[in-house]
Amino acid sequence: MKAVICEQFGLPESLLFKEIPSPTITPNQVLIKVIAAAVNFPDSLIIQNKYQFKPTLPFAPGGEVAGIIIDLGKEVKHLQIGDRVVALCGWGGFAEQVAVDANRVFKIPSAINWQTAAATLYNYGTSYHALKDRGQLQPGQTILILGAAGGVGLAAVELAKKMGGIVIAAASSQEKLEICQKKGADFTINYSTEDLRESVKKITGDKGVDLVYDPVGGALAEPALRSMSWKGRYLVVGFASGTIPSLPFNLALLKGCAVMGVFWGAFTEKEPALSMQNLSELVQMIWRGDIQQEIYKIYALKDVAQAIRDLIDRKVIGKAIIQVSEEIEIEKIIPTDKTKDKEIQNQQLSEKELPVRFLNKTALTQAIGSSLGTSNWLNVNQEMITNFANATLDQQWVHIDTEKAAILLPDGKTIAHGYLSMSLVSQFLYQMIHIEGVNSFFNYGINKARFINPVQCGDRIRLHANISQAELQDNGSLKLFINCNMEIKGKSKPAYVAEIISLIL
Ligand SMILES: NC(=O)c1ccc[n+]([C@@H]2O[C@H](COP(=O)([O-])OP(=O)(O)OC[C@H]3O[C@@H](n4cnc5c(N)ncnc54)[C@H](OP(=O)(O)O)[C@@H]3O)[C@@H](O)[C@H]2O)c1
Repeated sequence: MKAVICEQFGLPESLLFKEIPSPTITPNQVLIKVIAAAVNFPDSLIIQNKYQFKPTLPFAPGGEVAGIIIDLGKEVKHLQIGDRVVALCGWGGFAEQVAVDANRVFKIPSAINWQTAAATLYNYGTSYHALKDRGQLQPGQTILILGAAGGVGLAAVELAKKMGGIVIAAASSQEKLEICQKKGADFTINYSTEDLRESVKKITGDKGVDLVYDPVGGALAEPALRSMSWKGRYLVVGFASGTIPSLPFNLALLKGCAVMGVFWGAFTEKEPALSMQNLSELVQMIWRGDIQQEIYKIYALKDVAQAIRDLIDRKVIGKAIIQVSEEIEIEKIIPTDKTKDKEIQNQQLSEKELPVRFLNKTALTQAIGSSLGTSNWLNVNQEMITNFANATLDQQWVHIDTEKAAILLPDGKTIAHGYLSMSLVSQFLYQMIHIEGVNSFFNYGINKARFINPVQCGDRIRLHANISQAELQDNGSLKLFINCNMEIKGKSKPAYVAEIISLIL
């Protein structure tokens, strides 16, 4: 396969574009055919041996990719060959294939294109965590964002605006600030020509800003800290300037303010459920068109060095993307035997290997869009229908009078109550899913339910289901939205379709 390789540490110009063997996977990894990869600040550091992670030489840089799973280790349960995914691989992504630990791989809906997918997780994941979990930005609060046209900065501008903040974007050129305005910034400061502190004073009066979002550090940090309001929050995100600032502690005392670190990578590992919730909210925002990554330029794989050079030279506005491969049909990139594997896997999921096992609630949030397979067939007989009529007092003759039904109804058969079919969903779902460590599973609501085709006495029915949405609740429970489709054997139209809402404790 083709890859961009770092054989000795140095500037981007020392990277080599060459042919190397494809990676192999361990039992907990997946192999991804990379379609697009994002260029991030750590790529510029890792090739110079200046980053916190230090891969052994030679290695391909590239920490964030979008692509298709073409192989998976035998311990991987929640992903399948052919899944469209994004992955935070650390390095190895500027290559046609990359092996990644399965817990760093996330499925993406088909509505999100490859470039957006590759460019979103790291920037928006970081900025959403910073603003929501650390800064607790509230509507009407004022936030100063430094390096506002960079990757994480521009994501912060867009998200802060969506969260109701008053955004002051600060960057080094007019061109950059215009993009920030396009993304919703209310005020702008060009810190290469204006004094940061004086400009914030002019905008906020004597009050100062409630939050500072700082991915730059260096000489901007002290004037930014001095521009804070009483009880403000200063978010330490990064040091793109190359200088870690040393700040006088008395400023924090005088302002009664908090200086707080933001470390998204550690957050995803230490608080996976909260992180998954954030990612699922971000995917929904992208889907609705509420947020959209600004793409600076799309480079070919051979031009990775130029893309990293442009980032170092502060030319990139938003995100630089590497188009690694053309998007092609999944069947064409998965070897025939693997395609067969996938068919077999699906078949096993559908009939033989019930239930689908999830290691915990978090694993469910990673399975959005995934099939839960198909339940076993169930024969609907008269005894069942009559029992249901007795229990619900719904004694209409179409359900219970077999003699009249033989004369008057199509095929001479009684019809099961629609609500009987509906009530069987719980039994089917119980058969289909098993979640480790879960106390209770309540089906407590239904959206968009329709009874499409009557179930006649003697019909065989079964359920197909997939997870459409998962929302983690404040009390730790998980609200799950499951698309259900109840098939009647031999009939083209289903008996019942609905989105079931379940609460998992
Ligand atoms: N804490 C976390 O979890 C986390 C997560 C992601 C990223 N980060 C960190 O956040 C920082 C920014 O990342 P990014 O992806 O947004 O990078 P980026 O796209 O390159 O943006 C960085 C911005 O910083 C400004 N800057 C000031 N001095 C610079 C210099 N000497 N070299 C380069 N840029 C300089 C530039 O804007 P102007 O030209 O307008 O000044 C640039 O747009 C990095 O330090 C990265 O490691 C931290």
